[in-house]
Amino acid sequence: MDDTIITIKDLNVAYQDKPALWHINLDIRKNGRTAIVGPNGAGKSTMIKTMMKLIRPVSGRIEIDGRTDKGVLKNIAYVPQKGEVNWDFPATVLDVVLMGRYVHKGWIKRPQKKDREIALEALKTMKMEAFCDRQISELSGGQRQRAFLARAIAQDADIYVMDEPLQGIDITTENLIMDVIRKLQTEGKTFIVVHHQLNTVKEYFDHVVIMNKTIIADGPTDAVFTGENIEKAYREKGVSV
Ligand SMILES: Nc1ncnc2c1ncn2[C@@H]1O[C@H](COP(=O)(O)OP(=O)(O)OP(=O)(O)O)[C@@H](O)[C@H]1O
Ligand SMILES: [Mg+2]
Repeated sequence: MDDTIITIKDLNVAYQDKPALWHINLDIRKNGRTAIVGPNGAGKSTMIKTMMKLIRPVSGRIEIDGRTDKGVLKNIAYVPQKGEVNWDFPATVLDVVLMGRYVHKGWIKRPQKKDREIALEALKTMKMEAFCDRQISELSGGQRQRAFLARAIAQDADIYVMDEPLQGIDITTENLIMDVIRKLQTEGKTFIVVHHQLNTVKEYFDHVVIMNKTIIADGPTDAVFTGENIEKAYREKGVSV
């Protein structure tokens, strides 16, 4: 289908012998803002990491833009879940944002003036330019999140995959992030965002995936984000197969 950018076919993922995702079949809408919701342990991060080829599935297939090779990942900006990143690593905010440029250059080449300009512009978008020389270990949680989003923007990918970017930040930053996401959507970008606040799903996202180890429902938010579907996902720990 033309309006699908990611297709997942019969995906099964396990940690050691313990199944984490069962029979996932999913189409992600191109140029959409798709929320992924489900309780803790539902496998949201696992699904995203499998898309990013950080986890090898037991079986199944993920097509991104019709491709399954690693090269397609250059076109995806990934913002991991808080707590998965080592913030003690010695690097400035600008270093971190410049990492977004390396996908275009390989690790050998040093960043050029143009890369710095793009990185600084991304920091400006996230209202973080004043922090560009600051060590990342010396940032607040919300500032770290903004620095990571600036890195994603600097990558200039077509697809953004974000694992709870709004977790633990204040309302001003939340509004800023949502404004940036909406603007980038008008430029043709696609967003896949793990989201925990059920009360803002309808306002923030045009599509939603409700999951708990398997897909409970997915599609346009208005049609799919119903009390019944939410209850199915949150009522029980996983659906038996
Ligand atoms: N590296 C791992 N090794 C073993 N089990 C894991 C590993 N990572 C996750 N799990 C387990 O897999 C299941 C899914 O975890 P995952 O992190 O994908 O859930 P999630 O939906 O992202 O949850 P949360 O909302 O808490 O972020 C959980 O039961 C978790 O304990
Ligand atoms: Mg998670």
